[in-house]
Amino acid sequence: MPFTHLIIFLIAFPVSSSGGKWTYNGPHGENHWPKHFPYCGGAFQSPINFQRELQRYDPGLLPVQLQNYNLSSSEQLTLSNNGHSVQLSLSPRMYLSGLPHRYSAAQLHFHWGSPNVLAGSEHTVNGKQFAAEMHVVHFNSGKYPNITMALDKSDGLAVLGVLIEVGEFNPAFEQFLKYVNGIKYRDQKIQVPAFNIRDLLPAHLDEYYRYDGSLTTPPCYPSVLWTVFRHPVTISLRQYLALATALFSSHAQESAPMPMLGNYRKPQLMDNRVVLVSFQEGWGLHGPLSVASPMHRKLVIQQLLNGDLADLADEGLQQLLPKIKRKPWAPKKWKSNQSHLQWSQVTEKQQRSRMQENNPSVWKNPDTSPYMGKLGVNEDELCFISLEKNVSFQLRKHHRDSEMVHTLRKAVFPELNLRSYLKCKSDLDMQTIKYLLHTRPTEDADELEKTLAKTTKKERQRAMSQNHGPALTKLTGQFQVTGLKNAYNMIPTNHKSEPIEFED
Ligand SMILES: *[C@@H]1O[C@H](CO)[C@@H](O)[C@H](O)[C@H]1NC(C)=O
Ligand SMILES: *[C@@H]1O[C@H](CO)[C@@H](O)[C@H](O)[C@H]1NC(C)=O
Ligand SMILES: *[C@@H]1O[C@H](CO)[C@@H](O)[C@H](O)[C@H]1NC(C)=O
Ligand SMILES: *[C@@H]1O[C@H](CO)[C@@H](O)[C@H](O)[C@H]1NC(C)=O
Ligand SMILES: [Zn+2]
Repeated sequence: MPFTHLIIFLIAFPVSSSGGKWTYNGPHGENHWPKHFPYCGGAFQSPINFQRELQRYDPGLLPVQLQNYNLSSSEQLTLSNNGHSVQLSLSPRMYLSGLPHRYSAAQLHFHWGSPNVLAGSEHTVNGKQFAAEMHVVHFNSGKYPNITMALDKSDGLAVLGVLIEVGEFNPAFEQFLKYVNGIKYRDQKIQVPAFNIRDLLPAHLDEYYRYDGSLTTPPCYPSVLWTVFRHPVTISLRQYLALATALFSSHAQESAPMPMLGNYRKPQLMDNRVVLVSFQEGWGLHGPLSVASPMHRKLVIQQLLNGDLADLADEGLQQLLPKIKRKPWAPKKWKSNQSHLQWSQVTEKQQRSRMQENNPSVWKNPDTSPYMGKLGVNEDELCFISLEKNVSFQLRKHHRDSEMVHTLRKAVFPELNLRSYLKCKSDLDMQTIKYLLHTRPTEDADELEKTLAKTTKKERQRAMSQNHGPALTKLTGQFQVTGLKNAYNMIPTNHKSEPIEFED
């Protein structure tokens, strides 16, 4: 950067430039990260807990394709202790395909628990924490020249997450674990022969969780397209202990050595994100209920969020279950071609009042409403164009930038979430309906939930007695994996010149 800019940078960010120190515990632990790294207190953070209710099956998610992962042993990789983890550099010839861009490999590293507590994964599945987790970090080389440039861009990184359990011995892990005694202390590194990196990943690459999140270490940029494989790999207890006992986060010359353990961040808020999954869970009661089209789904969700629930329970129930309904779709409140207009009026008004509660002075003038929401003619299109960009613009204009995260969380993400539901090809299921109903803790909601469960059960029995399962999924429309993130392309760049120390 030009010299004058550097001066300004140093004056403006004295804390950030000297604030590289962070740990997993104590006075520099994760609760304190946001002081020096504001994004860590921001939105769309990782890791998260993969909760069944917030998952949507997306049949468009193809198996992850690894290119050039089989490295030759004549090649050398750098194994290092960076004070937070053990890291293996990777060949830039390795890349992922099948994603919206080409993502080239940069490094892989690990998170783990302690010698006596085998719980150190970052992502958790229905609350379950695994023994450890591996992250294979890639950057968008189709768009950025190197990882430094990609790090703070919303489409900058793609990370593969592998959950690790203690069980059978894993020969692939031995290929670097046998060298960790050579990098016991911070900033030590050695060269090791390369191997087939594919062998570190689970056998099945077709079943995974996909969501938009962040680096799990400072500076926590929300720049990661996450792919976490559903199936864990195993390592032996001895191999686990090699990670959990051999390494120190302190330098060799420090008098008080700090063991490197428990180097994981706890699960973060969902911020109304939806996790897409490439696999279908069993067809239990939680299985999908089909909704005929995006437009119908739109109406159903809207009705669940804001409609008259008593009305739904009385007579509108069939509308929630279009696949097993007997009469044609004819909602009382949204008739034929008027539906677009009414829907958008309802939401815009409600959204605006919600915004006003949060930021009274910013949203006072209805003519400067940030809501550009409009329903397209095409029923797949619910395009709240640049909603969050406009919000940030409005906040800056009123010098209320500090409320950005709060406002996004409270007012914008619910809308984006709704959009991602609506754009998603998979269908509403009972869990989702329940989830939406729980935002309305009224007797009507309870009543509707009960009736719904009863009807579903009856319908299932009927379908089963006819000896063919209920119609399961009908897929319509196009869903874009990165829709949410593209909409949120607003990471300012004023921190990008910090000395960057990150793991993923
Ligand atoms: C990886 O490459 C080696 C030679 O470099 C070859 O012997 C081996 O079969 C390859 N493995 C796979 C899975 O392709
Ligand atoms: C990354 O690319 C930018 C722009 O080309 C360049 O200025 C910078 O020095 C590069 N950084 C590294 C670490 O290679
Ligand atoms: C449909 O829209 C047209 C104009 O856009 C209007 O004239 C017509 O009455 C509408 N039909 C119904 C059933 O509302
Ligand atoms: C925000 O929305 C208003 C209308 O409500 C529009 O006039 C303005 O151009 C938008 N601003 C940006 C930055 O998109
Ligand atoms: Zn990581």
